[in-house]
Amino acid sequence: MINMTNPVGPTPLDKPGLVGQPLDRIDGPLKVSGRATYAAEYHDEHPLYGFVVQAAISKGRLDEIDTTAAEKAPGVRLVLTYKNALKQGPRGTSGNPQLEGPSIDHHGQPIALVVADTFEQARAAAYLVKPRYAAEKGEYDMGSSLAKSFVPKSNNGVPADTASGDLTAAFTNAPVKVDVTYTTPPQTHAMMEPHATIAVWNGDSLTLYTANQMLMRGTDMVAGTLQIPKDKVRMVSSYIGGGFGGKLQVEADAILAAMAAKVLQKPVKVVLTRQQIFEITKHRTDTIQRVKLAAGRDGTLTAIGHESWSNNTPGDTFYESAAQATRSFYAAPNRMTAHRLVTLDLPHSSSMRAPGEAVGLLALECAMDELAAALNMDPIELRIKNEPQEDPEKGRPFSTRSFVPCLRKGAELFGWSKRNATPGQVKDGAWLVGMGMSGAIRGNPMLTAKASVTLDKNGIATVRSSMTDIGTGSYTILAQIAADMLSLPMARVRVALGDTAFPAAPGSGGSFGANSAGSAVYDACNVLRGKLLQAANLPPDSTFNNGNVTGLGRTVSLTDLVGPNGLEADGAADPGDSRKAFNQQSYGAHFAEVGVDRDTGEIRLRRMLGVFTAGRILNAKTARSQAIGGMTFGVGAALTEDLVIDKRFGGFVNHDLAEYHVAVHADIPAIDAVFLPELDDHSSAMKSKGIGELGICGAGAAVANAVYNATGVRIRDYPLTLDKVL
Ligand code: MOS
Repeated sequence: MINMTNPVGPTPLDKPGLVGQPLDRIDGPLKVSGRATYAAEYHDEHPLYGFVVQAAISKGRLDEIDTTAAEKAPGVRLVLTYKNALKQGPRGTSGNPQLEGPSIDHHGQPIALVVADTFEQARAAAYLVKPRYAAEKGEYDMGSSLAKSFVPKSNNGVPADTASGDLTAAFTNAPVKVDVTYTTPPQTHAMMEPHATIAVWNGDSLTLYTANQMLMRGTDMVAGTLQIPKDKVRMVSSYIGGGFGGKLQVEADAILAAMAAKVLQKPVKVVLTRQQIFEITKHRTDTIQRVKLAAGRDGTLTAIGHESWSNNTPGDTFYESAAQATRSFYAAPNRMTAHRLVTLDLPHSSSMRAPGEAVGLLALECAMDELAAALNMDPIELRIKNEPQEDPEKGRPFSTRSFVPCLRKGAELFGWSKRNATPGQVKDGAWLVGMGMSGAIRGNPMLTAKASVTLDKNGIATVRSSMTDIGTGSYTILAQIAADMLSLPMARVRVALGDTAFPAAPGSGGSFGANSAGSAVYDACNVLRGKLLQAANLPPDSTFNNGNVTGLGRTVSLTDLVGPNGLEADGAADPGDSRKAFNQQSYGAHFAEVGVDRDTGEIRLRRMLGVFTAGRILNAKTARSQAIGGMTFGVGAALTEDLVIDKRFGGFVNHDLAEYHVAVHADIPAIDAVFLPELDDHSSAMKSKGIGELGICGAGAAVANAVYNATGVRIRDYPLTLDKVL
């Protein structure tokens, strides 16, 4: 067991090897040839098909739901409503009950599941279900409901509010200050693969072929909802077509499929349609954020305040921790952060793509730009001037902090010195051209994880863990770690993930996946090395090299040591006290150049660069891909992504990828990401830090700051669209 309470020290990964190399994904050929099996593709189960019927009101109750016509429709086997749904556990971190009763909390809430022999029959019959509603007036607008906001319970032990010093006095007395309010709209994950599940019961054991990022928590949630023992639930998510937080939890597809399959004693498949995903699963809440910054004339910050309001469905306590990064980013003696939650009658909001930081930095990093303008100071110099030497709230040391090197390297590579600090001066034909920058910061969490590794008689090592690969490269980096730890070539390493039959890992989310599962694999390989040395009667300082181990003047082939059944080792890793002792973050700096059409206000990204540090980079290619993917989402947050609330009737107006515009290739011209070398002895066994969510953090603010530099117009309401420029 690896415990990160103590620093890592020298490791086999310190010498040059496969870890860090820009290797292609080992699962790439399977994916591009259609041989990677996604949740909805387990055809051999011959399932029945379920189609979800959704509520057409946003608040109220079902007076009646008439299923007679649907039940008589061709091929229909079952219509599940609250009247015949199974008894379920309560809603919460271990429960996501469906069809609980006649009450309706939000638009699009599932009110029935129609199960038939074919998908088309189920869908056709779904339109024959006749609900009669008793609708009530709901509240759908956060801005007009702020008086009802309240202090939410802490998210994962992180407090909603923090304060030190005297913000009010410092702000009042400061010679230079900004007090600005930014708003961000609701956003949706928009992963490629929809939520999908095939549920199969075998006696009292349930197997779910499903698309889920966190299988350990997933089995908790399924067991808690269906009120069955956790060890009776197996979840399989071998390949996942993107998650972005939308698959952190078990959603209605899995629970409804499981209930219907139980009733019918046959496998049932439920795939949510693209339109259904928007309201049945979760989204990111809109936020209202007020940032106060005060400084001396030399740019030294004296006060930082950041308040954020977000909203959720009645009874749902998740809030967007938008001010959390502000607690670690810049030094100032007087500080305040606060989060408030508003209950609205909208679909559930939850984690999406760097929850907290992603939208928090859209406010903080633009406010810093506004302060730099007020000070007549370069925004990079303002940040360097306020670089803290330790955690500004808690006084803990940073495990490592390489923010300033990112700023300097980025400025050099991007050509920041060519920027005209006066807005609206640079023209290129019909375009006004501007440059902007922003800082990036994202926490580096780690969770307890397990893995096993087996070396067989042919010299093939197989890693197993319930870690998932949501498209990020988990299969590949875990193979690289195992290959280096065992001194084997990549061709002799297999990786099996995404199955709760394997040793338990938390999965993919919160930038903790690689460090958590990777450390468990590292540990399993270490244990296996010990077993191999014991079998060879060799001392610990023997060297592993290309399938052999050498010591005491002897070289032994590993295949001679494992025996006919192979040799297996279990590994585990735990963060220990490392997160209490050190403030651990990944860092970066974003640089963007935009053009704004002088006549139409159209905004176009022209080029973008991110420079990051995140400890040891496990695969330069997948790391870069994740970073530019995150930056692309940042461009979307700045310019296009906008889930529009229907403030008359609740629910969302746009619910497909034509009208919810995620930035696409045509929106992203030249983009690059660079990782500076760093090792963090406190972050993980590999000395690496999380990168999954780093790329989006701050990216949109750099774009917004570039729009200001191009035009002199400061837009504080995201996304920045042409109507707001003019
Ligand atoms: Mo992430 S929002 O924890 O997938």
